[in-house]
Amino acid sequence: MTDTIEMLIGGNGQQQVSMNAAMANRHGLIAGATGTGKTVTLQILAEGFSRLGVPVFMADVKGDLSGLAKAGSPHPKIDERIAHIAIYGYTQRGYPTVFWDLFGKQGHPLRTTISELGPLLLSTLLELNDTQTGILYSCFRIADDNGLLLLDLKDLRSMLSWMGDNAKELKSEYGNISSASVGAIQRRLLVLEEQGARHFFGEPAADIDDLMKTDFSGNGVISILDVTRLVQTSPRLYATFLLWLLSELFEQLPEVGDADRPKFVFFFDEAHLLFDQAPKPLLEKVEQVVRLIRSKGVGVYFISQSPLDIPDDVLGQLGLRIQHALRAFTPKDRKAIRAVAQNFRANPDLDTETVITELGTGEALVSTLDRKGSPTVVQRTLIRPPESQMGPLKAAERKERIARSPFSGKYDKRVDRESAYELLQKRAEQAEEKAAKSAPKKAQKKPGSSRQSWQEAMFKSAARSAGTILGREGGKLLRGILGSLMRGK
Ligand SMILES: Nc1ncnc2c1ncn2[C@@H]1O[C@H](COP(=O)(O)OP(=O)(O)O)[C@@H](O)[C@H]1O
Ligand SMILES: [Mg+2]
Repeated sequence: MTDTIEMLIGGNGQQQVSMNAAMANRHGLIAGATGTGKTVTLQILAEGFSRLGVPVFMADVKGDLSGLAKAGSPHPKIDERIAHIAIYGYTQRGYPTVFWDLFGKQGHPLRTTISELGPLLLSTLLELNDTQTGILYSCFRIADDNGLLLLDLKDLRSMLSWMGDNAKELKSEYGNISSASVGAIQRRLLVLEEQGARHFFGEPAADIDDLMKTDFSGNGVISILDVTRLVQTSPRLYATFLLWLLSELFEQLPEVGDADRPKFVFFFDEAHLLFDQAPKPLLEKVEQVVRLIRSKGVGVYFISQSPLDIPDDVLGQLGLRIQHALRAFTPKDRKAIRAVAQNFRANPDLDTETVITELGTGEALVSTLDRKGSPTVVQRTLIRPPESQMGPLKAAERKERIARSPFSGKYDKRVDRESAYELLQKRAEQAEEKAAKSAPKKAQKKPGSSRQSWQEAMFKSAARSAGTILGREGGKLLRGILGSLMRGK
Protein backbone atom coordinates (compact mmCIF):
# COMPACT_ATOMS: atom_id res chain seq x y z
CA MET A 1 0.00 0.00 0.00
CA THR A 2 1.15 3.53 -0.70
CA ASP A 3 1.66 6.08 2.04
CA THR A 4 -1.53 7.34 3.55
CA ILE A 5 -2.33 11.00 3.81
CA GLU A 6 -3.09 11.93 7.39
CA MET A 7 -5.22 14.94 8.29
CA LEU A 8 -4.44 16.25 11.76
CA ILE A 9 -7.51 16.70 13.95
CA GLY A 10 -5.83 17.42 17.28
CA GLY A 11 -3.99 15.77 20.12
CA ASN A 12 -3.86 15.22 23.85
CA GLY A 13 -0.28 15.71 24.97
CA GLN A 14 0.50 12.02 24.58
CA GLN A 15 -0.41 11.53 20.96
CA GLN A 16 -1.75 13.26 17.90
CA VAL A 17 -5.09 12.24 16.49
CA SER A 18 -5.51 12.33 12.74
CA MET A 19 -7.72 10.82 10.10
CA ASN A 20 -6.70 8.95 7.01
CA ALA A 21 -7.87 11.05 4.05
CA ALA A 22 -8.57 7.88 2.06
CA MET A 23 -11.35 7.15 4.57
CA ALA A 24 -12.93 10.59 4.28
CA ASN A 25 -15.58 9.30 1.90
CA ARG A 26 -16.76 7.08 4.74
CA HIS A 27 -18.56 10.09 6.15
CA GLY A 28 -18.67 11.51 9.65
CA LEU A 29 -20.47 13.16 12.49
CA ILE A 30 -19.70 16.18 14.62
CA ALA A 31 -21.95 16.34 17.67
CA GLY A 32 -22.13 18.27 20.93
CA ALA A 33 -24.06 20.84 22.91
CA THR A 34 -24.12 24.50 21.86
CA GLY A 35 -20.86 26.34 22.42
CA THR A 36 -18.69 23.24 22.75
CA GLY A 37 -16.72 23.72 19.52
CA LYS A 38 -18.67 22.03 16.69
CA THR A 39 -18.37 24.92 14.26
CA VAL A 40 -14.64 25.32 14.80
CA THR A 41 -14.20 21.57 14.31
CA LEU A 42 -16.03 21.86 11.02
CA GLN A 43 -13.73 24.74 10.17
CA ILE A 44 -10.51 22.80 10.82
CA LEU A 45 -11.81 19.85 8.80
CA ALA A 46 -12.69 22.15 5.90
CA GLU A 47 -9.21 23.67 6.08
CA GLY A 48 -7.65 20.22 6.10
CA PHE A 49 -9.57 19.13 3.02
CA SER A 50 -8.86 22.39 1.24
CA ARG A 51 -5.12 21.93 1.81
CA LEU A 52 -5.41 18.52 0.18
CA GLY A 53 -7.07 20.08 -2.85
CA VAL A 54 -10.52 18.76 -1.96
CA PRO A 55 -13.39 21.18 -2.60
CA VAL A 56 -15.80 21.58 0.28
CA PHE A 57 -19.41 22.64 0.52
CA MET A 58 -21.03 23.78 3.75
CA ALA A 59 -24.16 25.52 4.88
CA ASP A 60 -23.59 28.31 7.38
CA VAL A 61 -26.41 28.22 9.87
CA LYS A 62 -25.24 30.79 12.39
CA GLY A 63 -23.25 32.99 10.03
CA ASP A 64 -19.97 32.23 11.77
CA LEU A 65 -18.14 30.34 9.03
CA SER A 66 -17.22 33.24 6.79
CA GLY A 67 -14.03 33.74 8.80
CA LEU A 68 -12.59 30.86 6.77
CA ALA A 69 -11.79 33.45 4.11
CA LYS A 70 -9.42 35.39 6.35
CA ALA A 71 -6.30 34.63 8.36
CA GLY A 72 -6.82 34.20 12.09
CA SER A 73 -5.02 36.46 14.54
CA PRO A 74 -2.39 35.35 17.04
CA HIS A 75 -3.52 34.63 20.57
CA PRO A 76 -1.71 33.11 23.56
CA LYS A 77 -4.46 30.50 23.86
CA ILE A 78 -3.86 29.43 20.27
CA ASP A 79 -0.12 29.12 20.98
CA GLU A 80 -0.93 26.96 23.99
CA ARG A 81 -3.08 24.68 21.88
CA ILE A 82 -0.42 24.42 19.18
CA ALA A 83 2.18 23.47 21.76
CA HIS A 84 -0.06 20.96 23.51
CA ILE A 85 -0.96 19.20 20.26
CA ALA A 86 2.61 19.67 18.93
CA ILE A 87 1.49 21.02 15.58
CA TYR A 88 4.28 21.54 13.12
CA GLY A 89 4.04 24.23 10.44
CA TYR A 90 1.00 26.11 11.73
CA THR A 91 0.48 29.32 9.72
CA GLN A 92 -2.44 31.66 10.06
CA ARG A 93 -4.04 32.19 6.69
CA GLY A 94 -7.30 32.57 4.87
CA TYR A 95 -8.71 29.88 2.61
CA PRO A 96 -10.23 30.15 -0.87
CA THR A 97 -13.94 30.60 -0.32
CA VAL A 98 -17.01 31.40 -2.39
CA PHE A 99 -20.12 32.76 -0.73
CA TRP A 100 -23.58 31.65 -1.76
CA ASP A 101 -27.02 32.59 -0.54
CA LEU A 102 -30.35 31.30 -1.78
CA PHE A 103 -31.67 34.83 -1.42
CA GLY A 104 -28.67 36.35 -3.19
CA LYS A 105 -27.85 38.79 -0.37
CA GLN A 106 -24.91 37.25 1.51
CA GLY A 107 -23.48 35.63 -1.58
CA HIS A 108 -24.23 34.57 -5.12
CA PRO A 109 -27.70 33.17 -5.51
CA LEU A 110 -27.85 29.41 -5.71
CA ARG A 111 -30.90 28.22 -7.56
CA THR A 112 -32.43 25.10 -8.85
CA THR A 113 -35.36 24.45 -11.13
CA ILE A 114 -38.61 22.67 -10.33
CA SER A 115 -37.76 20.02 -12.91
CA GLU A 116 -34.43 19.35 -11.32
CA LEU A 117 -35.83 19.16 -7.82
CA GLY A 118 -38.27 16.46 -8.84
CA PRO A 119 -41.56 15.24 -7.38
CA LEU A 120 -40.27 13.35 -4.33
CA LEU A 121 -38.49 16.28 -2.73
CA LEU A 122 -41.15 18.73 -3.82
CA SER A 123 -44.06 16.76 -2.38
CA THR A 124 -42.15 16.40 0.90
CA LEU A 125 -41.44 20.10 0.90
CA LEU A 126 -45.11 20.90 0.28
CA GLU A 127 -46.27 18.30 2.82
CA LEU A 128 -48.76 16.88 0.34
CA ASN A 129 -51.07 13.98 1.16
CA ASP A 130 -51.10 10.82 -0.94
CA THR A 131 -53.71 12.00 -3.45
CA GLN A 132 -51.99 15.32 -3.97
CA THR A 133 -48.63 13.58 -4.24
CA GLY A 134 -50.08 11.38 -6.95
CA ILE A 135 -51.16 14.42 -8.93
CA LEU A 136 -47.77 16.04 -8.53
CA TYR A 137 -46.12 12.88 -9.85
CA SER A 138 -48.47 12.93 -12.84
CA CYS A 139 -47.60 16.55 -13.40
CA PHE A 140 -43.89 15.72 -13.55
CA ARG A 141 -44.60 12.73 -15.74
CA ILE A 142 -46.52 14.77 -18.25
CA ALA A 143 -43.81 17.38 -18.28
CA ASP A 144 -40.96 14.85 -18.37
CA ASP A 145 -42.61 12.72 -21.05
CA ASN A 146 -43.05 15.78 -23.19
CA GLY A 147 -39.68 17.31 -22.50
CA LEU A 148 -41.26 20.33 -20.88
CA LEU A 149 -39.00 22.08 -18.42
CA LEU A 150 -40.63 23.35 -15.27
CA LEU A 151 -38.18 26.04 -14.35
CA ASP A 152 -39.92 28.06 -11.71
CA LEU A 153 -43.05 28.20 -9.61
CA LYS A 154 -45.11 29.86 -12.30
CA ASP A 155 -44.31 26.99 -14.67
CA LEU A 156 -45.51 24.49 -12.13
CA ARG A 157 -48.62 26.48 -11.39
CA SER A 158 -49.57 26.83 -15.03
CA MET A 159 -48.91 23.16 -15.63
CA LEU A 160 -51.17 22.23 -12.73
CA SER A 161 -53.99 24.47 -13.81
CA TRP A 162 -53.67 23.12 -17.33
CA MET A 163 -54.04 19.64 -15.85
CA GLY A 164 -57.08 20.74 -13.90
CA ASP A 165 -58.65 22.15 -17.06
CA ASN A 166 -57.91 19.00 -19.03
CA ALA A 167 -58.62 16.47 -16.30
CA LYS A 168 -61.14 14.62 -18.44
CA GLU A 169 -58.76 14.06 -21.35
CA LEU A 170 -55.92 13.13 -19.02
CA LYS A 171 -57.91 10.72 -16.91
CA SER A 172 -57.34 7.54 -18.88
CA GLU A 173 -53.60 7.93 -18.83
CA TYR A 174 -52.94 9.75 -15.58
CA GLY A 175 -55.89 8.86 -13.35
CA ASN A 176 -58.22 11.10 -11.46
CA ILE A 177 -57.13 14.73 -11.21
CA SER A 178 -59.61 16.35 -8.88
CA SER A 179 -59.84 20.10 -8.95
CA ALA A 180 -59.97 20.15 -5.15
CA SER A 181 -56.57 18.45 -4.95
CA VAL A 182 -55.09 20.66 -7.65
CA GLY A 183 -56.39 23.65 -5.72
CA ALA A 184 -54.82 22.35 -2.51
CA ILE A 185 -51.43 21.98 -4.19
CA GLN A 186 -51.73 25.49 -5.66
CA ARG A 187 -52.38 26.89 -2.18
CA ARG A 188 -49.34 25.13 -0.76
CA LEU A 189 -47.28 26.57 -3.59
CA LEU A 190 -48.42 30.03 -2.60
CA VAL A 191 -47.28 29.44 0.97
CA LEU A 192 -43.94 28.25 -0.33
CA GLU A 193 -43.66 31.34 -2.48
CA GLU A 194 -44.32 33.55 0.51
CA GLN A 195 -41.46 31.86 2.31
CA GLY A 196 -39.15 33.14 -0.40
CA ALA A 197 -38.98 30.09 -2.64
CA ARG A 198 -39.49 32.29 -5.68
CA HIS A 199 -35.86 33.34 -5.31
CA PHE A 200 -34.37 30.00 -5.84
CA PHE A 201 -36.53 28.26 -8.33
CA GLY A 202 -35.27 29.41 -11.66
CA GLU A 203 -32.19 29.96 -13.71
CA PRO A 204 -29.30 30.02 -13.99
CA ALA A 205 -29.48 26.88 -11.85
CA ALA A 206 -26.49 25.86 -9.78
CA ASP A 207 -23.84 24.02 -11.72
CA ILE A 208 -22.20 21.34 -9.59
CA ASP A 209 -18.89 21.97 -11.37
CA ASP A 210 -18.80 25.44 -9.88
CA LEU A 211 -18.83 23.91 -6.41
CA MET A 212 -15.94 21.63 -7.23
CA LYS A 213 -13.14 24.06 -7.92
CA THR A 214 -9.58 24.32 -6.77
CA ASP A 215 -7.61 27.56 -6.74
CA PHE A 216 -4.41 28.19 -8.69
CA SER A 217 -2.33 26.78 -5.85
CA GLY A 218 -4.34 23.59 -5.86
CA ASN A 219 -6.29 24.25 -2.66
CA GLY A 220 -9.88 23.07 -2.64
CA VAL A 221 -12.34 25.95 -2.78
CA ILE A 222 -14.72 26.12 0.17
CA SER A 223 -18.27 27.02 -0.84
CA ILE A 224 -20.23 28.54 2.01
CA LEU A 225 -23.98 28.75 1.67
CA ASP A 226 -25.53 31.31 3.97
CA VAL A 227 -28.71 29.87 5.44
CA THR A 228 -29.03 32.02 8.55
CA ARG A 229 -32.39 33.38 7.41
CA LEU A 230 -33.64 30.30 5.63
CA VAL A 231 -33.17 28.03 8.64
CA GLN A 232 -35.37 30.38 10.63
CA THR A 233 -38.10 31.02 8.10
CA SER A 234 -38.29 27.68 6.34
CA PRO A 235 -36.21 24.85 7.78
CA ARG A 236 -37.92 22.45 5.38
CA LEU A 237 -36.79 24.43 2.39
CA TYR A 238 -33.27 24.36 3.78
CA ALA A 239 -33.29 20.60 4.21
CA THR A 240 -34.84 20.10 0.76
CA PHE A 241 -32.29 22.24 -0.96
CA LEU A 242 -29.36 20.43 0.60
CA LEU A 243 -30.87 17.06 -0.19
CA TRP A 244 -31.28 18.16 -3.75
CA LEU A 245 -27.63 19.18 -3.87
CA LEU A 246 -26.60 15.85 -2.43
CA SER A 247 -28.65 14.00 -5.01
CA GLU A 248 -27.21 16.16 -7.81
CA LEU A 249 -23.71 15.21 -6.70
CA PHE A 250 -24.72 11.61 -6.56
CA GLU A 251 -26.37 11.51 -9.96
CA GLN A 252 -23.73 13.52 -11.78
CA LEU A 253 -20.40 12.42 -10.45
CA PRO A 254 -18.74 9.37 -11.97
CA GLU A 255 -17.81 6.29 -9.95
CA VAL A 256 -14.24 6.42 -8.71
CA GLY A 257 -12.06 3.62 -7.46
CA ASP A 258 -10.11 3.69 -4.20
CA ALA A 259 -8.33 7.00 -3.89
CA ASP A 260 -6.02 8.56 -1.35
CA ARG A 261 -8.49 11.39 -0.72
CA PRO A 262 -12.10 12.27 -1.50
CA LYS A 263 -13.27 14.23 -4.53
CA PHE A 264 -15.64 16.41 -2.59
CA VAL A 265 -16.82 16.93 0.96
CA PHE A 266 -20.27 18.04 1.99
CA PHE A 267 -21.07 19.34 5.48
CA PHE A 268 -24.65 19.19 6.64
CA ASP A 269 -25.16 21.46 9.64
CA GLU A 270 -28.32 21.28 11.78
CA ALA A 271 -28.70 17.78 10.44
CA HIS A 272 -31.72 17.08 12.62
CA LEU A 273 -33.71 19.36 10.28
CA LEU A 274 -33.09 16.82 7.56
CA PHE A 275 -34.56 13.95 9.47
CA ASP A 276 -37.26 15.63 11.59
CA GLN A 277 -40.66 14.74 10.20
CA ALA A 278 -39.19 13.39 7.00
CA PRO A 279 -41.51 10.72 5.60
CA LYS A 280 -40.21 7.17 5.61
CA PRO A 281 -39.76 6.78 1.85
CA LEU A 282 -37.59 9.88 1.81
CA LEU A 283 -35.53 8.66 4.79
CA GLU A 284 -34.92 5.37 3.06
CA LYS A 285 -33.71 7.12 -0.03
CA VAL A 286 -31.47 9.49 1.90
CA GLU A 287 -29.96 6.47 3.60
CA GLN A 288 -29.41 4.88 0.20
CA VAL A 289 -27.80 7.98 -1.31
CA VAL A 290 -25.49 8.40 1.68
CA ARG A 291 -24.42 4.78 1.31
CA LEU A 292 -23.89 4.90 -2.44
CA ILE A 293 -22.27 8.31 -2.74
CA ARG A 294 -19.13 6.91 -1.13
CA SER A 295 -18.21 5.26 -4.39
CA LYS A 296 -18.30 8.66 -6.07
CA GLY A 297 -15.64 9.89 -3.68
CA VAL A 298 -17.98 12.19 -1.77
CA GLY A 299 -17.77 12.46 2.01
CA VAL A 300 -20.85 13.63 3.89
CA TYR A 301 -20.45 15.08 7.37
CA PHE A 302 -23.42 15.69 9.63
CA ILE A 303 -23.37 18.24 12.41
CA SER A 304 -25.95 18.00 15.15
CA GLN A 305 -26.34 18.48 18.88
CA SER A 306 -26.85 14.80 19.57
CA PRO A 307 -25.98 11.72 17.51
CA LEU A 308 -29.43 10.47 18.43
CA ASP A 309 -30.85 13.09 16.03
CA ILE A 310 -29.56 10.93 13.19
CA PRO A 311 -31.43 7.76 12.19
CA ASP A 312 -29.57 4.55 13.06
CA ASP A 313 -29.24 3.46 9.44
CA VAL A 314 -27.39 6.64 8.61
CA LEU A 315 -25.47 6.79 11.88
CA GLY A 316 -24.10 3.32 11.27
CA GLN A 317 -22.44 4.55 8.09
CA LEU A 318 -20.51 7.41 9.63
CA GLY A 319 -16.82 6.64 9.99
CA LEU A 320 -15.42 9.71 11.70
CA ARG A 321 -16.97 10.50 15.07
CA ILE A 322 -16.19 13.75 16.80
CA GLN A 323 -18.19 14.05 19.98
CA HIS A 324 -17.99 17.33 21.84
CA ALA A 325 -19.38 17.78 25.34
CA LEU A 326 -22.96 16.91 26.15
CA ARG A 327 -24.80 18.22 29.19
CA ALA A 328 -26.31 15.81 31.69
CA PHE A 329 -29.14 17.76 33.29
CA THR A 330 -31.98 15.27 33.21
CA PRO A 331 -32.25 11.48 33.44
CA LYS A 332 -33.13 11.58 29.75
CA ASP A 333 -29.85 13.40 29.02
CA ARG A 334 -27.94 10.77 30.96
CA LYS A 335 -29.62 7.98 29.07
CA ALA A 336 -28.73 9.65 25.78
CA ILE A 337 -25.11 10.08 26.90
CA ARG A 338 -24.91 6.40 27.77
CA ALA A 339 -26.18 5.50 24.31
CA VAL A 340 -23.68 7.84 22.67
CA ALA A 341 -20.80 6.46 24.77
CA GLN A 342 -21.68 2.89 23.83
CA ASN A 343 -21.37 3.77 20.17
CA PHE A 344 -17.63 4.31 20.52
CA ARG A 345 -15.02 1.60 20.49
CA ALA A 346 -14.02 1.62 24.15
CA ASN A 347 -10.65 2.86 25.31
CA PRO A 348 -9.54 1.01 28.48
CA ASP A 349 -7.94 4.23 29.77
CA LEU A 350 -11.13 6.29 29.42
CA ASP A 351 -14.53 6.27 31.01
CA THR A 352 -16.24 7.51 27.86
CA GLU A 353 -19.56 8.22 29.51
CA THR A 354 -18.06 10.45 32.18
CA VAL A 355 -15.61 12.15 29.86
CA ILE A 356 -18.40 13.29 27.50
CA THR A 357 -19.74 15.56 30.23
CA GLU A 358 -16.30 16.82 31.24
CA LEU A 359 -14.88 17.85 27.86
CA GLY A 360 -13.74 21.45 27.57
CA THR A 361 -14.51 23.83 24.71
CA GLY A 362 -12.78 22.72 21.55
CA GLU A 363 -12.16 19.32 23.04
CA ALA A 364 -13.83 16.12 21.89
CA LEU A 365 -13.91 12.36 21.91
CA VAL A 366 -12.65 11.27 18.52
CA SER A 367 -12.77 7.97 16.73
CA THR A 368 -11.58 7.57 13.15
CA LEU A 369 -11.30 4.69 10.73
CA ASP A 370 -8.03 2.82 10.39
CA ARG A 371 -6.55 1.66 7.08
CA LYS A 372 -8.83 -1.32 7.03
CA GLY A 373 -11.89 0.76 7.73
CA SER A 374 -12.41 -0.34 11.33
CA PRO A 375 -13.14 2.28 14.00
CA THR A 376 -10.17 3.23 16.12
CA VAL A 377 -10.28 3.27 19.89
CA VAL A 378 -11.84 6.51 21.11
CA GLN A 379 -9.39 9.25 22.15
CA ARG A 380 -9.90 12.32 24.24
CA THR A 381 -8.64 15.03 21.89
CA LEU A 382 -7.97 18.73 22.02
CA ILE A 383 -9.03 19.93 18.56
CA ARG A 384 -6.40 21.85 16.62
CA PRO A 385 -6.96 25.59 16.25
CA PRO A 386 -8.03 26.83 12.83
CA GLU A 387 -5.60 28.81 10.68
CA SER A 388 -8.39 31.07 9.52
CA GLN A 389 -10.39 33.46 11.63
CA MET A 390 -12.88 32.09 14.15
CA GLY A 391 -16.15 33.95 13.81
CA PRO A 392 -17.61 35.91 10.91
CA LEU A 393 -16.08 38.42 8.51
CA LYS A 394 -17.19 42.01 8.76
CA ALA A 395 -19.95 42.91 6.30
CA ALA A 396 -17.56 45.01 4.20
CA GLU A 397 -14.98 42.22 4.05
CA ARG A 398 -17.61 39.82 2.87
CA LYS A 399 -18.97 42.20 0.30
CA GLU A 400 -15.54 42.80 -1.11
CA ARG A 401 -14.95 39.07 -1.51
CA ILE A 402 -18.29 38.53 -3.18
CA ALA A 403 -17.53 41.32 -5.66
CA ARG A 404 -14.26 39.78 -6.76
CA SER A 405 -15.49 36.21 -6.92
CA PRO A 406 -15.24 34.57 -10.35
CA PHE A 407 -18.95 33.74 -10.18
CA SER A 408 -20.25 37.24 -9.69
CA GLY A 409 -21.18 37.60 -13.35
CA LYS A 410 -22.60 34.14 -13.77
CA TYR A 411 -25.35 33.74 -11.21
CA ASP A 412 -26.24 37.18 -9.95
CA LYS A 413 -28.70 37.96 -12.69
CA ARG A 414 -31.75 35.83 -13.04
CA VAL A 415 -32.71 34.65 -16.53
CA ASP A 416 -36.13 33.52 -17.62
CA ARG A 417 -35.65 30.92 -20.28
CA GLU A 418 -38.58 29.76 -22.33
CA SER A 419 -40.16 27.13 -20.15
CA ALA A 420 -43.49 25.49 -19.48
CA TYR A 421 -45.27 28.66 -18.51
CA GLU A 422 -44.25 30.53 -21.62
CA LEU A 423 -44.82 27.54 -23.86
CA LEU A 424 -48.24 26.78 -22.47
CA GLN A 425 -49.19 30.40 -22.82
CA LYS A 426 -47.92 30.60 -26.36
CA ARG A 427 -49.77 27.45 -27.29
CA ALA A 428 -52.97 28.74 -25.79
CA GLU A 429 -52.66 31.89 -27.87
CA GLN A 430 -51.83 29.98 -31.02
CA ALA A 431 -54.73 27.62 -30.51
CA GLU A 432 -57.09 30.49 -30.00
CA GLU A 433 -55.75 32.29 -33.05
CA LYS A 434 -56.10 29.19 -35.14
CA ALA A 435 -59.61 28.59 -33.91
CA ALA A 436 -60.49 32.24 -34.51
CA LYS A 437 -59.17 32.07 -38.07
CA SER A 438 -61.04 28.97 -39.13
CA ALA A 439 -64.32 29.75 -37.43
CA PRO A 440 -64.19 33.06 -35.62
CA LYS A 441 -67.65 33.18 -34.15
CA LYS A 442 -68.02 29.56 -33.12
CA ALA A 443 -64.62 29.38 -31.58
CA GLN A 444 -65.31 32.16 -29.17
CA LYS A 445 -68.43 30.48 -27.94
CA LYS A 446 -66.87 27.07 -27.56
CA PRO A 447 -64.00 27.23 -25.10
CA GLY A 448 -63.86 23.42 -25.08
CA SER A 449 -62.67 23.24 -28.65
CA SER A 450 -59.94 25.76 -28.08
CA ARG A 451 -58.77 23.84 -25.04
CA GLN A 452 -58.75 20.63 -26.98
CA SER A 453 -56.50 22.01 -29.65
CA TRP A 454 -54.33 23.62 -27.03
CA GLN A 455 -53.77 20.22 -25.52
CA GLU A 456 -52.95 18.70 -28.88
CA ALA A 457 -50.72 21.56 -29.74
CA MET A 458 -48.95 21.31 -26.47
CA PHE A 459 -48.12 17.66 -26.77
CA LYS A 460 -47.07 17.89 -30.36
CA SER A 461 -44.89 20.89 -30.26
CA ALA A 462 -43.61 20.08 -26.79
CA ALA A 463 -42.23 16.88 -28.19
CA ARG A 464 -40.82 18.71 -31.18
CA SER A 465 -39.16 21.47 -29.26
CA ALA A 466 -37.91 19.17 -26.53
CA GLY A 467 -34.50 18.96 -28.17
CA THR A 468 -34.06 22.68 -28.07
CA ILE A 469 -35.63 23.19 -24.68
CA LEU A 470 -33.53 20.55 -23.05
CA GLY A 471 -30.50 20.71 -25.25
CA ARG A 472 -30.56 16.96 -25.55
CA GLU A 473 -32.11 14.38 -27.80
CA GLY A 474 -35.03 12.19 -27.08
CA GLY A 475 -36.84 14.72 -24.98
CA LYS A 476 -37.66 12.30 -22.22
CA LEU A 477 -36.28 13.16 -18.83
CA LEU A 478 -34.89 10.52 -16.51
CA ARG A 479 -34.88 10.71 -12.75
CA GLY A 480 -32.52 9.35 -10.10
CA ILE A 481 -32.98 7.92 -6.62
CA LEU A 482 -34.11 11.11 -4.95
CA GLY A 483 -36.02 12.11 -8.04
CA SER A 484 -33.62 14.72 -9.32
CA LEU A 485 -32.95 14.94 -13.03
CA MET A 486 -30.32 12.82 -14.69
CA ARG A 487 -28.24 14.46 -17.38
CA GLY A 488 -27.48 12.95 -20.73
CA LYS A 489 -24.26 10.96 -20.76
N1 LIG B 1 -10.47 23.97 18.09
C1 LIG B 1 -10.57 25.15 18.71
N2 LIG B 1 -9.48 25.93 18.85
C2 LIG B 1 -9.56 27.11 19.48
N3 LIG B 1 -10.70 27.62 19.98
C3 LIG B 1 -11.82 26.90 19.88
C4 LIG B 1 -11.82 25.63 19.22
N4 LIG B 1 -13.08 25.14 19.24
C5 LIG B 1 -13.83 26.06 19.87
N5 LIG B 1 -13.09 27.13 20.25
C6 LIG B 1 -13.62 28.34 20.95
O1 LIG B 1 -14.95 28.07 21.41
C7 LIG B 1 -15.90 28.95 20.81
C8 LIG B 1 -17.22 28.23 20.54
O2 LIG B 1 -17.02 27.22 19.57
P1 LIG B 1 -18.08 26.91 18.41
O3 LIG B 1 -17.40 26.02 17.45
O4 LIG B 1 -18.67 28.16 17.88
O5 LIG B 1 -19.20 26.09 19.23
P2 LIG B 1 -20.55 25.41 18.68
O6 LIG B 1 -20.53 25.45 17.20
O7 LIG B 1 -20.52 24.01 19.21
O8 LIG B 1 -21.66 26.21 19.26
C9 LIG B 1 -15.20 29.48 19.59
O9 LIG B 1 -15.66 30.74 19.21
C10 LIG B 1 -13.74 29.50 20.01
O10 LIG B 1 -13.46 30.68 20.73
MG1 LIG C 1 -21.91 26.30 15.95
